[in-house]
Amino acid sequence: MPMPRKLFVTTALPYANAPFHIGHMMEYIQADIWVRFQRLQGHEVHFVCADDAHGAAIMIAADKAGKTPQQFVAEIAAGRAAYLDGFHISFDNWSSTDATENHALAQDIYRHLRKEDLITVKSVEQFFDPVKAMFLADRYIKGECPVCSAKDQYGDNCEVCGSVYAPTDLKNPYSTLSGAAPVLKSSEHYFFQLSSQRCLDYLKGWTQAPARLQPEVLNKISEWFKVDEQGHGGLADWDISRDAPYFGIEIPDAPGKYFYVWLDAPVGYLASLKNYFDKGGAKAKGETRSFDEFMAADDTEQVHFIGKDIIYFHTLFWPAMLHFSGRKAPDKVFVHGFITLGGGEKMSKSRGTGLSPLRYLELGLDAEWLRYYIAAKLNSHVEDIEFNPEDFVARINSDLVGKYVNIASRIAPFLAKHFDNRMPRLEIGSFGLPAASAGFAVAVEASQSIRQDFEQREFGKAARKIMEVADAINKEIDGFKPWLLAKSVATDEMARSQLGQICAGSINGFKALTIFLKPILPSLTERVEAYLNSGPLDWSLLNLPIDGPSFIREGHEFGAFEQLMQRVDAVKLGRLFETAPEAAGAAPDTIALPLPGGEAIAPTITIDDFAKLDLRIARIVACEKVEGSTKLLRLTLDVGEPAHRTVFSGIQSAYSPAQLVGKLTVVVANLAPRKMKFGLSEGMVLAASHTDEKSHPGLFILEPHAGAIPGLRIR
Ligand code: MSP
Ligand code: ZN
Repeated sequence: MPMPRKLFVTTALPYANAPFHIGHMMEYIQADIWVRFQRLQGHEVHFVCADDAHGAAIMIAADKAGKTPQQFVAEIAAGRAAYLDGFHISFDNWSSTDATENHALAQDIYRHLRKEDLITVKSVEQFFDPVKAMFLADRYIKGECPVCSAKDQYGDNCEVCGSVYAPTDLKNPYSTLSGAAPVLKSSEHYFFQLSSQRCLDYLKGWTQAPARLQPEVLNKISEWFKVDEQGHGGLADWDISRDAPYFGIEIPDAPGKYFYVWLDAPVGYLASLKNYFDKGGAKAKGETRSFDEFMAADDTEQVHFIGKDIIYFHTLFWPAMLHFSGRKAPDKVFVHGFITLGGGEKMSKSRGTGLSPLRYLELGLDAEWLRYYIAAKLNSHVEDIEFNPEDFVARINSDLVGKYVNIASRIAPFLAKHFDNRMPRLEIGSFGLPAASAGFAVAVEASQSIRQDFEQREFGKAARKIMEVADAINKEIDGFKPWLLAKSVATDEMARSQLGQICAGSINGFKALTIFLKPILPSLTERVEAYLNSGPLDWSLLNLPIDGPSFIREGHEFGAFEQLMQRVDAVKLGRLFETAPEAAGAAPDTIALPLPGGEAIAPTITIDDFAKLDLRIARIVACEKVEGSTKLLRLTLDVGEPAHRTVFSGIQSAYSPAQLVGKLTVVVANLAPRKMKFGLSEGMVLAASHTDEKSHPGLFILEPHAGAIPGLRIR
């Protein structure tokens, strides 16, 4: 027996500002399959995650919801189990980056980096929102990427080309909180000197260690290292501080300064593991060392599963932070692509897609269908995968139900009826193997290469090979025609023996398939184990001589056979993509299907909900551009009242004042007046647009048919 590996495995820590969407579930399913595979090999695995609780996004979202950030994050955290349990994700621990362990570890790492002279303080001009009167976190500044010019990119990194930069590098920036153009204001910032020669040398070595990173990830990184003839490019120092007000961890000896969320987020991996060690979780798995000893040990393998959008953080900042604070850097970073929905509409991190994981479960769709489907699409590369409903139905019904489960459905009734539900006697055939074990032999033959596929995260390949084994077993059953043999067992000893052989051979093959599928289908295979009455199966059974004890013993009694898995009902699956999930609010874990407007129809409301809106016909009596704004027009509206109203509307890009004056339109007349930088806005003019106005420009205000007059209510 080789020494068991000691694995510390994580998935990226999800932002605690929203429930999970299908992208998160894909990452957890991928990691969970790998982890379960390693456990079945007899390795020691500690699989942890945590909520990424800090940052301006959460602070502002909490504020909008009228809650403290702690309350807000706790509510999101409370919803996690339904998804994780629902999809059979076997984390050993779930913590939060706001946990005390993380505060202590992040500050400790920082102190070490400072001692190493890798922290500098510089005065930085930073964007300040003149309307909101606060420094603008990166997420609240958008603009054009300084590297690839993609529009509407956040201030910290580009979702299109993956570059990381400072918000002040953006072209044509605007505040997403107020729409105003931000102004520069200076403040002291703390930097981690990633550009130092020491860091560069270390990171070049770390990234290039054999088998550490996928080739395409290495390619990406080498672009980031590149410096052109003018000396541009290369790694820049990393701004790790943010000014109060901020929800985060205080920087030691720097009042009013907090760690930028991305500094303490990966530290959360360690914090969650420490929390679990301190609770005795690791001990329960046979780990006798303390957290510190475990983390320092040479034989501990630290593995991170992440998506392609956060490579920079995990392959540059994070290993450097760990190394220069005297810790071991990660051993592997496994990067996956994104799951998208059909139609090519990219599922953004913030928006979600038309596949709500919770609704999937509520509809009674089997979690393990999704696990299998995702597994069958995954490989070891950084490739996007597409969720395609027709493909999903075909995969599950033909592979899982039609091939794997089918073997047991075909054989179990014969065992029950003709063999007292026990394993028939095995007879040795021509090759010294039991007769009717060709399918089983194929399974044993394939087992090494399937094992390798799992190890290398080639789950799609593994699934294909497993189904080939199932095909071989089914073919063998077809050849023996057990349904004919069964007709004459009462009178024909030969037929009875043959029936026994095919039942015994195929049920052994089925057992091997079950071992292969355990990492992907933990719950289905548990039901199979109950039927096989085998106890928990593991991979070592396949190492034994194939005519040896890996065969089920003669006379072994099987459990009661119940239907193991249903076929996918395409109609039910279709309901998953219906718009308007009944739950209140446009289920935030839902990613909009590609309707022309780029978003799904909002949840159903009652007529009473609608009646709350007071929509009126208004005449635009005057209109002018707002000085200092490239977006706003100031409209003077006659809504049939004694006095005119002033309304600011972000339609300057689509209309000139001259086009609008004198026209009738529709206004929300009972909207609370809103104070803007340029004055009070007393209503809202309605216009149609795509949800992503930047990539789908076009704004269309409404105009009633002739005859309407100002002040008429729209109902
Ligand atoms: N909080 C950071 C990670 C901090 S790790 C120290 C973050 N959170 S996230 O919630 O936006 O994303 C969590 C993980 O989900 C990331 O690995 C991300 O790549 C992954 N995915 C987000 N959308 C995805 C898809 N559509 N498909 C697959 N994975 C995707 O980033
Ligand atoms: Zn870019």
